[in-house]
Amino acid sequence: MRLLPLLLATALLLVPPPAQAAPACDARKVAAAARACADLLRGEERFVRDASDARRAQRVARVRDRLIASWYAAGTASDGAACAVTTADAGDTADRLAAAVADVGAALPGSTACRAAVLRTLAPLCRRVVRTELPLLRDQPDAHGIRGRTLARVRTDLTAAFPLAGCGAAGAAAADAEAALLRVAAGALGDATTRGLRALAADAGQEVGVAVEPGEVSSDPLYAAALDRETTSLTAENAMKWGPIHPAPDTWVFEPADAVVALAESRGQRVRGHTLVWGALQLPAYVENAPDADALRALMAEHVATVAGRYAGRIAQWDVVNEPLAGVLDPPTPDGLDDNVFRRLLGPGYVAEALHLARAADPAAKLFVNENGIEVPGPRQDRFYALVQELLASGAPLDGVGFQAHLGLIPIGQYPDRATIAASLRRFAELGLTVELTELDVTLVFRSGDLPSRLAFQCGSYRDAVAACASVPGCSGVTTWGLSDRSTWLRSFFGFTDWPLPFDDDWRRKAAYFGMRAALLEAALRDAD
Ligand code: G3I
Repeated sequence: MRLLPLLLATALLLVPPPAQAAPACDARKVAAAARACADLLRGEERFVRDASDARRAQRVARVRDRLIASWYAAGTASDGAACAVTTADAGDTADRLAAAVADVGAALPGSTACRAAVLRTLAPLCRRVVRTELPLLRDQPDAHGIRGRTLARVRTDLTAAFPLAGCGAAGAAAADAEAALLRVAAGALGDATTRGLRALAADAGQEVGVAVEPGEVSSDPLYAAALDRETTSLTAENAMKWGPIHPAPDTWVFEPADAVVALAESRGQRVRGHTLVWGALQLPAYVENAPDADALRALMAEHVATVAGRYAGRIAQWDVVNEPLAGVLDPPTPDGLDDNVFRRLLGPGYVAEALHLARAADPAAKLFVNENGIEVPGPRQDRFYALVQELLASGAPLDGVGFQAHLGLIPIGQYPDRATIAASLRRFAELGLTVELTELDVTLVFRSGDLPSRLAFQCGSYRDAVAACASVPGCSGVTTWGLSDRSTWLRSFFGFTDWPLPFDDDWRRKAAYFGMRAALLEAALRDAD
């Protein structure tokens, strides 16, 4: 009798375990990207050791071919179609990854021996970091905990690898190596994962938003589906502006704005209100031609109370005043403020007045002043900083600052990098304010080169903007001014031939989209433990 349980146990061991379901397409793609990352880092080690290494290009091509083959195989699996569209093209991924690894190889500080040793150390670690996405793709219980513990072990192993000869101070060298590792791993994952921006933003503790025209969403199911997967926040591109919502003294048109709020609430997304007081555009004549200060003050009080009051408790952040500074293309004004009817009749104090009115109408909303061209240091940022300091000193209820971030357009041809944007955000956040990028797009009109190279550049620009925000305490999110090139204001407003947004006209994900994913993943990996 006693033998029976033993025989049973043995028999069970011999019976092959039930066939594991073929790993899902997305998991196979991530696994292949993890391997590619390790292979490229190992190859880069050889190149760093021997810069005349003619076989570098062959090695990169082999990794590229293997990635294309594995992703093709994954893509033709049963669930292939679904994940094929949400991941980047394998060839593009391999090129981006190879470029990122080469950048790391070149940028790593220390002697040749040091750099080679660091690259050799990073290779297996990159594979482990990228594979932390698998439990999340499989919705495994405690998937984030698994990622956190794996990242903690990776950090321990990385730190233990130092000191390394020629690398200088161990602590600093290990920190540089870790930053390089997360950058490369996030790049691989940004292309390979099938999780949308919404899920990745949640992991990174960030908001990712889009400015929408409700009519465009309701008439385009692909748009609605993309908003579901890719956003945590909606802004009304025009529906909440004075002209559209309050075209005449006794006429209110709330439907489009209501539709944006309902759209967001139905999806558990937040709403950014844009904008209560904007002196430059879409301001009706009855406001522009207000006879005097009292009349205008009464109009402003009624407008803010009515609009902010209507959505009280349903708006996370209001751009109470938009673009208070004189426009970059406008003639300069004595005090640097925009020469509009509010400034002329109510004086510079109209900004503080509007903030107090908004606070009274919706005590729950965070109140912002929103401006463009302040992502780069200089006289414009300084003038805006002075305005913000004046508002805070006056006790005006200012909670945040919106950086519009129309990169490449304002100022023309300037594409601030991660460090520059982060420094600008940090400068205002250190005043105790919340900061956000509120209208991000990256025009290609003022960028030279062929379209593919401009799109590759745009990928880096989007990655830098999102990563900059995620790296600054107090920066809570990024909103793009539209989602698909098909509805960008840069075409309708300026007549530009341009592709400034993360999705193309046919709702295909552009390199820019994968840049945003990589930035959110880099933040999530950095903060995971
Ligand atoms: O709705 C009318 C339509 O009835 C009319 O037939 C048509 C033709 O004139 O105009 C339509 O209104 C246009 C509106 O967009 C809606 O499409 C306005 O003329 C046009 O000026 C308006 O442009 C908007 C612009 O702000 C001016 O308010 C852009 O869509 C919008 O993207 C842009 O957004 C601004 C932010 O609010 C603030 N920061 C800069 C950003 C870009 O300029």
